[in-house]
Amino acid sequence: MTTTKFHPEVYTQALTSESVSYASPSNIALIKYWGKHGVQIPKNPSISFTLDTCKTTTKLSYVKREKITDEYELKVILDGKHKPGFEPKIYQFFGRIQSYLPFVKDYEFTIETSNSFPHSSGIASSASGLSALALCLMEMEREMQPEMTLKHFNQKASFIARLGSGSGCRSLEGPLVVWGEHAEIKGSSDLYGVQYPYEINPVFDNYQDAILLVDKGEKPVSSTVGHNLMHNHAYAASRFEQAVVNLSKLIPMLKTGDLDGFVRLVESEALTLHSMMLTSDPYFILMKPNTLHIIDKIWEYRRETGIPVCFTLDAGANVHVLFPDKDKEQVHEFIKNNLSKYCQDNRYIFDSVGSGAIKL
Ligand code: DP6
Repeated sequence: MTTTKFHPEVYTQALTSESVSYASPSNIALIKYWGKHGVQIPKNPSISFTLDTCKTTTKLSYVKREKITDEYELKVILDGKHKPGFEPKIYQFFGRIQSYLPFVKDYEFTIETSNSFPHSSGIASSASGLSALALCLMEMEREMQPEMTLKHFNQKASFIARLGSGSGCRSLEGPLVVWGEHAEIKGSSDLYGVQYPYEINPVFDNYQDAILLVDKGEKPVSSTVGHNLMHNHAYAASRFEQAVVNLSKLIPMLKTGDLDGFVRLVESEALTLHSMMLTSDPYFILMKPNTLHIIDKIWEYRRETGIPVCFTLDAGANVHVLFPDKDKEQVHEFIKNNLSKYCQDNRYIFDSVGSGAIKL
């Protein structure tokens, strides 16, 4: 594993553009990343579905600075409003990427960003936001180094996104992206996400993800703190091994379309993630009573109808309901009639698997 290939070559062209825009989606992990070391290196491999409609759109504008200092010059504008509160995170990100994209010091940046999903919905915007920004910065580099291959562009963009948000490195492509070295996944790396390289059964085409917004409040424990609590966690080592085994088990399920196996594995991963939180020191709970009500109703519905609908959770109380495209109508009805009452303000988002970020 070497980061040398991501140090820049000599730039052969001057930058003439003034801005660049990208839309980058959110993603939902089937096998979860929880625990990291070094600079954003995952303790275990993870895999996610890239989403389609939940995304961040970012326009990065830049003006060459007259006087270059050690400080970065940047401004973050969310939905048309200046948000100084978001700037320290981008400062830290720029510090981490400085040696790979040294021009971040040379410009004054304005980052205008907006999310397709409702503000404060509890949906993490860091994966989509940081991947959109990483792509904009990489587009600047590509303009200065036009001989760059597409493969290098994609790898480095994911590498840069990872330095902003680990899960963000899985948002650039679709429909399934693996991040973290795994012996059975060719090309997999701890440094960047790669498109899942093997056969995927058509049953997973346009797979559906309905996001039930159970709680839009501020999370009591951030992902950063949660990841840190995996250091010295009593069950960490076996959890990291389990994720490796689970990814091996998922490969044939994706190939054959074994939805029974898929449902068991995906739900087990979600509950394992939250059990790591329950058993951290100090312990914490991100699920809410309505998270459990929804899980209960999903199990009941699956038992009664035989429809292979399942749930997964990220680091929060919201529930992602996953199901095949062919069952969409029925499951949407079920969600509207039976699950929306457990959502804050009855809010939910019908999304599906997507193909990754796009340049605008
Ligand atoms: C539970 O990617 O948000 O969603 O690397 O600190 O930015 P940082 O963490 P983040 O963690 C995501 C954790 C997760 C599981 C997953 O997406 O794999």
